Amino acid sequence: MSAVNISTGPAYGYTDIDSDGARAANRHYWDNEAAAYYAEHGDFLGDVDFCWSPEGLRESDVHLLGDVAGRTVLEVGCGGAQCARWLAGQGATVIATDLSTGQLAQARALNERTGVPVPLVQADAITLPVRSGSIDIACSAFGAVPFVADSAALMSEVARVLRPGGRWVFSTTHPFVWCLPDAPDANGLVVFHSYFDRRAYTEHSEGGEPVYVEAHRTMGDRIREIVAAGLLLIDVIEPEWPEGHDQEWGQWGPLRGQFVPSTSIFVTARPH
Ligand SMILES: C[S@@+](CC[C@H](N)C(=O)[O-])C[C@H]1O[C@@H](n2cnc3c(N)ncnc32)[C@H](O)[C@@H]1O
Repeated sequence: MSAVNISTGPAYGYTDIDSDGARAANRHYWDNEAAAYYAEHGDFLGDVDFCWSPEGLRESDVHLLGDVAGRTVLEVGCGGAQCARWLAGQGATVIATDLSTGQLAQARALNERTGVPVPLVQADAITLPVRSGSIDIACSAFGAVPFVADSAALMSEVARVLRPGGRWVFSTTHPFVWCLPDAPDANGLVVFHSYFDRRAYTEHSEGGEPVYVEAHRTMGDRIREIVAAGLLLIDVIEPEWPEGHDQEWGQWGPLRGQFVPSTSIFVTARPH
């Protein structure tokens, strides 16, 4: 685990954290938070539905993955595996992966409750237990991408498992959000932190152990990491806040949504 260099206050800070440190903190966090996360967001997500973001963008409306029927689809950072379950219902052969034992337990419970069971595999997104070139489509809705210390390594790992022509689509926090306070109200509309600070947002215990880690990349960093992994960038979607949608999710909400994007979705593919 990396040394933690908290620079702003006792409860959280911006730190240089390595992959082991981020993995340990997030595994612990998501193990503990799985039930509460589902209680808060489960209805909005739907147990058998593919929601890309707090704006409520759904794969059934936007078809970013293309035709999934008959395709082998890998979900990275699946949480309760709602997306994988929806994909299975569309005729895909799915593999749902996540780092967290707690999230996978939640996914197992949902498998039983919904009667739509999907295969669940515990795996770090950086080291996928999947044969090279065997996946038609990989996807992640706010799965591992915001949480790993080395998202360039994640891009390369997904590129490895994709077959030539395969697609990798992921949603993550919009890079611009890094500048703003974590608040959905007017307090969240003030630029307070440098967009260019790549140190990870880190919450830590009283003993100084990191207990939650979120990493940051600028828009340029994200594009460079995709290109460096040998992937083609097809599209970047910045969902707008839909009229009439008043449900907040953390710092996401209708007020901020009028002015700036809070989600980005990258549509990429491995060249033929
Ligand atoms: C915000 S949840 C998103 C899950 C689901 N797509 C949803 O919308 O609820 C983030 C998920 O990423 C997982 N995760 C975090 N770091 C990971 C890593 N390094 N490898 C795989 N999964 C990871 C967490 O365990 C958690 O289930």
